[in-house]
Amino acid sequence: MTGILYFSSTGNSLQIAKRVQERFGGSILYIPKYDGDASEFERVFIVTPIYSYGLPTPVFDLIPRLVKDKEIIVIQNYGGMIGGADALFYDYAMQHNLNIMGIYTLKMPENYTLFLVPPKFYTNSILKSSNKRIDKILDKIENEKYKLPNPHASTKRDTYLKNKGNWHIIGDRFSVNDNCVKCQKCVQICPSNNIAVEDGKIVFKDNCIACLGCYHRCPQKAIVYLDKKSKYRYVNPNVKEKEIGQNF
Ligand SMILES: Cc1cc2nc3c(=O)[nH]c(=O)nc-3n(C[C@H](O)[C@H](O)[C@H](O)COP(=O)(O)O)c2cc1C
Repeated sequence: MTGILYFSSTGNSLQIAKRVQERFGGSILYIPKYDGDASEFERVFIVTPIYSYGLPTPVFDLIPRLVKDKEIIVIQNYGGMIGGADALFYDYAMQHNLNIMGIYTLKMPENYTLFLVPPKFYTNSILKSSNKRIDKILDKIENEKYKLPNPHASTKRDTYLKNKGNWHIIGDRFSVNDNCVKCQKCVQICPSNNIAVEDGKIVFKDNCIACLGCYHRCPQKAIVYLDKKSKYRYVNPNVKEKEIGQNF
């Protein structure tokens, strides 16, 4: 059976994972809830966003424990700039002797919107063409036209590792405003268990991985970054919001 391991905070990667499942079958598993080594699968897809020209922490932590003999295909998606994230992924996977068959990158709507909000027409046009572009990648995989990054391609490894080490600061800068109704959805969806209720208040601890899931998916838009008043939040409309983080 095919294993489709994904990480997603706002649904873009889940949309891709579901498309992979429609084409190749198999099980979709949310990486933060998966503690296996992929030995149960015949082949494995990893579907992940690009974070700071590299990998989200749950995906970074998954790589070392995967079995070495499985065929692995990676689909990375990004909002604006790849910055050699495909080469970085490949290099990191090679360090762990994984059998990477192909790595593909795909543009999806930006969800790192703490500072800049993309124009609506732009987000809509990316979404409109997304399934077509996913299908092009899946055609290549089906026809075994595998693509790997140039092993000599430059990466932004130092920047990535520095940013990854600082992601917890994002959590320090979140707060909850008066719109909060204490539904505790943020507590439930946080992939690093970084949000808790203490003395009746929502608090952010010190292991935020900067996925921004709480920020984008709070039903009241009550989670704010610094004192910014931005009302813009993004969730991929091609998936059901409550499906993000589930297995299928
Ligand atoms: C912390 C963080 C860092 C990001 N870094 C990058 C980046 O380096 N380059 C880029 O193009 N997009 C970047 N993005 C945008 C996401 O890769 C993109 O929106 C992705 O499609 C989100 O996938 P998801 O909806 O499955 O979570 C970043 C997003 C976050 C939250």
